[in-house]
Amino acid sequence: MRIRFTELAGVVGSAQNLGHGPLCGAEMASLPVIHDAFVEVVDGRIAALGPMAACPDADAGWEVRRCPGQWMLPGFVDSHTHLVYAAPRVTEFRMRLDGASYHDIAAAGGGILNSAAAIAAAEESALLEALLARLETARSTGTVAAEIKSGYGLTLEAERKMLRVVQRARELQPMPLWATFLALHALPKAANLDDFVATVVDRWLPALADDGLVDFVDVFCEANYFRPSDLVRLAEAAAKRGIPLKAHVNQFQSIGGIQASVAAGARSVDHLEVLTDADLQDLQTAWAHGDGPMPVALPHCSLFLNIPYTPGRALIDAGLPLAIASDCNPGSAPSSDLRMAWSLAAHQMKLRVDEGLAALTANAACAVGAEGHMGRIQPGMDAHLILTQPMADYAELPYFTSENRIAQTLIYGR
Ligand code: NIG
Ligand code: FE
Repeated sequence: MRIRFTELAGVVGSAQNLGHGPLCGAEMASLPVIHDAFVEVVDGRIAALGPMAACPDADAGWEVRRCPGQWMLPGFVDSHTHLVYAAPRVTEFRMRLDGASYHDIAAAGGGILNSAAAIAAAEESALLEALLARLETARSTGTVAAEIKSGYGLTLEAERKMLRVVQRARELQPMPLWATFLALHALPKAANLDDFVATVVDRWLPALADDGLVDFVDVFCEANYFRPSDLVRLAEAAAKRGIPLKAHVNQFQSIGGIQASVAAGARSVDHLEVLTDADLQDLQTAWAHGDGPMPVALPHCSLFLNIPYTPGRALIDAGLPLAIASDCNPGSAPSSDLRMAWSLAAHQMKLRVDEGLAALTANAACAVGAEGHMGRIQPGMDAHLILTQPMADYAELPYFTSENRIAQTLIYGR
């Protein structure tokens, strides 16, 4: 398969291989751009790109796609989703609008436990069908790859069901997917915290990992949920099996989740809506000693729960990298729209256009350990691409708060 995209208004990418580490601080503000460009894709990978003046003449063996006025961008990597769920939580939405808080609803037995009851009752085939439809929806707004968490199971069998749905979706559609065992998400009713953690870490994790269902583990480290010590225990057990940790930390309170994640060598620390000066400093220290955990902001969650936005500006100004993900889930972020997340990052988190794009692409790929083959347009990378409608400046994508001006999302060039 040899495809040549020609007459592009421009491509956010580089003809040279610029490496693939995280983009930190000021590096995020200006991504490489080639105006009036062509891009060649061979067998699903970027083979070459450059200015039209250097574009080879039409020759046999190439499928030529003229793209006058269109921009090509790296596709968005969604590093944090809960896309397997049985039903929306609209009743809780109404309750919140009547004045109840996310915590009130959880304390009354709703929230994650509500989603767990729905998962228990759902057929695997129905969950799979819903996931496939949601992946199509996500793709329409630029998503080319997604991490998907379990965590609404809360029993071994239901967690297995959720993870198997991800595994089957991988076989049925082209988008690369990662399955995360969100081992410690909520304490089931009447369960004892210490006993539950022990069961999950010592019994469920080995069982699911032995079935080949787990790419990452995750934990909701938060007051009233799980403690930093639980995070460390989970991370240590996972590390023995070569499985990295991603962690939900600092969504509502700062309780030491960042420090525990750093100590445990986490791949990413996600949420961070509440970030103290000490938390920021500890992240800076971690990154000063090499690759720390990728900070991941989830602006749809801030919008939907009306909680603070992750201080992305402060993180970047401190020289740190930042990724952005959807957190798509029925309780706190019912949207997979990363184009809109880019818009929220610009309008609410004060990120520059390229900072938002870097957070959704190169740095998002780092958050799932995929930076070696996606997140940038340069020779050798997988051809996971966004083609915009014709526009003068790709900043139109985040400029429009709700209009989607993405024309096509290509996975392996298709
Ligand atoms: O990332 N914070 C924990 N987990 C999800 C929401 C869970 C839910 O309410 O269903 C999140 O926001
Ligand atoms: Fe989440």
